[in-house]
Amino acid sequence: MTTFASARGKVILVGEHAVVHGAPAVAVAISRGARARAEPAERDELHIAAWGLSVSPDEESELARAFRAVLDETPGPRPVRVDLSTNLPPGAGLGCSAALGVATVRALDPDATHEVQVARAMQWERVFHGTPSGVDAEVAASGGCIFFRVGAPVERIALRAPLVLCVGDSGRASSTGAMVAAVRARPDGEREEIFGELESLAHEARAVLAQGASGLGGVLSRAHAALARLGVSTPTLDAMCRTAERAGALGAKLTGAGGGGCVVALVDGAETARSVVRAWRRDGFDGFTTRVEPRRDDAQTPSTDSHIEHIEERAS
Ligand code: MEV
Repeated sequence: MTTFASARGKVILVGEHAVVHGAPAVAVAISRGARARAEPAERDELHIAAWGLSVSPDEESELARAFRAVLDETPGPRPVRVDLSTNLPPGAGLGCSAALGVATVRALDPDATHEVQVARAMQWERVFHGTPSGVDAEVAASGGCIFFRVGAPVERIALRAPLVLCVGDSGRASSTGAMVAAVRARPDGEREEIFGELESLAHEARAVLAQGASGLGGVLSRAHAALARLGVSTPTLDAMCRTAERAGALGAKLTGAGGGGCVVALVDGAETARSVVRAWRRDGFDGFTTRVEPRRDDAQTPSTDSHIEHIEERAS
């Protein structure tokens, strides 16, 4: 039997880096993501045709080891061929590896529970990122908007109004592992003070989102300033945030590990979104808009959304 699955990319609205050290983060799934197709084969193999990658689990590349880590945890028919595709740029802070991991896990074992999906995707993520917080895998699997803290139950934030976000890509990939290590190497006192500020901003973002999102722009811009003090912004990311704000965004920040990758800007609607993306393009950067709708099934814990999404995928 051939199975199809998908998973979402994400943007972190507040709390990247701090989340690795126990503070909460607020993250939201975006329209872009990854797709996987699994089918019986003569040997285990994984392909990402668009990237020219083809691996078997006994190889030593990161992708091969990630595939092996998931296969080792997964019951089910073998050997298997997995084909992956994604419209997320890799190394850009949009959760590309987690989306690929969750899509793979789902295609290999359509009946796995949400918790099992996330646990298996974390095995995949550890190969690429060392000690990830897990926020990327969690939001890739749950969709929607979440308040995430390592070791605590995941809280779903029920949006009161649609969020219109512009994502701008600096075009420079960065390594999450290297950026996390650079933050770890900063003086303890300075780091803890900034993490404290990011923690307050994550709580503020959760409160603001639950009321309708006005005020979130300011939270994003303050989060960017804190991340810049942490040393993970770059002159290009700072400039892209300023460009977005000049074009009418309510606030903007880098998203993900920084050092390159993407910025996210909150806008008040489609027209401002077009202005922001156009302004980035004029400066030579790619960008897109993603609209996050409030969901009817929002509850306080991750719902069965992943399965709904999965069933829809399989039916098509
Ligand atoms: C990665 O999207 C965000 C970081 O906080 C790393 C992590 O949470 O594992 C930088």
